[in-house]
Amino acid sequence: MTTEKARGSKKKASTDDTPMGPTGRPYHGFATPPKLDGHGPARIIALCNQKGGVGKTTTTINLAASLAQYGRRVLAVDFDPQGALSAGLGIATHDVPTIYDLLLDTKRDPHDVIVSTSVENLDVIPANIDLSAAEVHLVNEVARETILARVLRKVSGEYDVILVDCQPSLGILTVNALTASHGVLIPLECEFFALRGVALLIETIDKVRDRLNPSITLDGVLATMYDPRTLHSREVLERVVEAFGDDVLETVIGRTVKFPDASVSGVPITKFAPEHPAAQAYLRLARELVARGAVA
Ligand SMILES: Nc1ncnc2c1ncn2[C@@H]1O[C@H](COP(=O)(O)OP(=O)(O)OP(=O)(O)O)[C@@H](O)[C@H]1O
Ligand SMILES: [Mg+2]
Repeated sequence: MTTEKARGSKKKASTDDTPMGPTGRPYHGFATPPKLDGHGPARIIALCNQKGGVGKTTTTINLAASLAQYGRRVLAVDFDPQGALSAGLGIATHDVPTIYDLLLDTKRDPHDVIVSTSVENLDVIPANIDLSAAEVHLVNEVARETILARVLRKVSGEYDVILVDCQPSLGILTVNALTASHGVLIPLECEFFALRGVALLIETIDKVRDRLNPSITLDGVLATMYDPRTLHSREVLERVVEAFGDDVLETVIGRTVKFPDASVSGVPITKFAPEHPAAQAYLRLARELVARGAVA
């Protein structure tokens, strides 16, 4: 009877009662992560895609807040001169010490730069437009690709996860982020040309693995701004799954105006609209990454 039912329903996976998700695989709920006995050392994850506006910052903010909600100590690093991550978490960036000071060594101790947020367990290293000068300043530095790694090493023992929100480029800052990271998460917008440029990104990750950071892994490809009502969105997601297989995370982030609304308010969506499906999606993403071993 159960088998008949499962066979008859397109919404059921064939092996169990887990519903099928938008990626064409079962959509698990994932268990609430167990409490941690202690904190650190952090696993460092870079959120990268040189394409602009794909959801890197939104994902960093809301994944960070979700992991913090599950008791993980989280540090989010704003690594984009636009400072959108800082703004999205309600942090003023004018005339404050930023990541730029740590890169240039005008501040030695990251604790002088780290700020806490309105979310318990979530701290931030802010950025502002000063960071746009970093490319020029770092060009003549010795071991210029490893500067962020050396900064983060000083505090990695205090956190369980460090998320680095990259700018939309594959320049020296992004190479620094990849060199400092254990894993990389690639957000992909379910829109035209989602996959354009991704080959170059993968090539960059491969080069960093080859030359600077042999153990970096691809932690997952996250489909964002998915709209199940449009054939286009579904087709793009299908193509992403064809290209990346099991590296595509089961969790898919839907398109909703709640995100821009939350950003304006300077809080994560998990605080702005905790019951909204989009907030629930990021909590699920946090659980999935714990289940996959990407996060403690
Ligand atoms: N799932 C979503 N649904 C609707 N809007 C979204 C979603 N995710 C992000 N946005 C909005 O899309 C815009 C771009 O998102 P975001 O800033 O996170 O992308 P980004 O990849 O960090 O961009 P950039 O490359 O400029 O740093 C923002 O206005 C954000 O509020
Ligand atoms: Mg951004």
